[in-house]
This record gives sequence, C-alpha cells and structure tokens, in this order.
Amino acid sequence: MQMKTILTALIATLFLVSCGNGNHDVSDDPGDSDGLTDFQLEHGIGPVTERVDLGEIDPARVEEGRSIFRMKCEACHNMEGRMVGPALGDVMESRSPEFVMNFILNPSGMTREHPEGQRLLQEYMTPMPFQNVTREEAKAIVDYLRDYAENQ
Ligand code: HEC
Repeated sequence: MQMKTILTALIATLFLVSCGNGNHDVSDDPGDSDGLTDFQLEHGIGPVTERVDLGEIDPARVEEGRSIFRMKCEACHNMEGRMVGPALGDVMESRSPEFVMNFILNPSGMTREHPEGQRLLQEYMTPMPFQNVTREEAKAIVDYLRDYAENQ
C-alpha cells in the first residue's frame, strides 16, 4: 500500500517534470503561428500583453510622437503610399493600439512569430529594425497616428 503511494507520487513528479521540459516555447519556433494566445493574435506579440488605456488624444503626446516618427520612422514609412514599409496613415483603423505598439517594440518577433507580421515581411522583403523606442514613446507614436487618422 505504502509502496503504491510512493510510486504514484514518483510517477506524478516525473510527469510534471517531463511536461515542464517539453513546454513549447513560441519564441524558439520561427514560422509557427500555432500556440499564440487570442490576445497575441489580435494585439501582437511583445512587451504589451494587456489592453492599454489610451484615453483622449493628448496634444503634447501627439507632438512627441510626431518628432520621434520623423527621426526614426519616416525613412521607411509614409502616411500615404508604400515606401520601404507600408503606409501608416490608416493603420489605426486596421490594427489595435497594442498591435502597433508591439510592432514598434518587437518588430523581429512580430515578423517571425505573428501571422500578420510574417505576411508583411513576405510582402515588403525588408525586416523592420527595432528603433530603440521606449514603451512610452511607442504610445506617443500611437497618439500621433490616431491624431492623423482623425484629422485627415
Ligand atoms: C528600415 C525601415 C523601417 C523603419 C526605420 C521602420 N519601419 Fe516599420 N516597417 C518596415 C517594414 C519593411 C514593415 C513591414 C514588415 C517587415 O517587413 O518587417 C514595417 C511594418 C510596420 C508596422 C506594421 C504595419 C501594419 O500594417 O500592421 C508598423 C505599425 C510600423 N512598421 C511602424 C513603424 C514605426 C512607428 C517606426 C518608427 C519607430 C518604424 N516602423 C520604423 C520598415 C521600417
């Protein structure tokens, strides 16, 4: 009886250990869109893992976003028309703010692991580089893009 209990415990432990080791790590698995959570599918893969409360468009943040955009994005992106990368004038209509932030903060992860990122990379053939943008700066860029979309 006691032996059986020990055996059961042992088997349970082994089972847990093997499951832990066999855990499927998405980040090591290029080209595989399986295993993404619903959140990741809709809002992208990266440091933004929950909805961001953006509130009203903040004029000061729009200005900050505009100047970061000029410095770090404009070489490849226009608002209207394709350049090295896609036009971003209407990106807030097709993507959530979190998706855009994750693309800015984790472009290589997005093009490797997210089906939409993979599709874009195939289309544009140039990997978007990480531009050393902080999370707050990414939020400012989102406000700039939201402001653009509302006022065009
Ligand atoms: C060297 C060129 C380059 C730079 C610089 C660059 N991008 Fe990109 N971006 C791309 C390309 C190319 C893609 C398409 C995906 C790919 O091929 O990596 C892309 C994709 C995107 C997307 C996804 C668009 C969609 O339809 O979902 C967003 C958002 C974006 N870029 C925003 C930015 C922002 C904001 C900056 C500045 C912080 C920036 N990019 C800097 C080239 C660039």
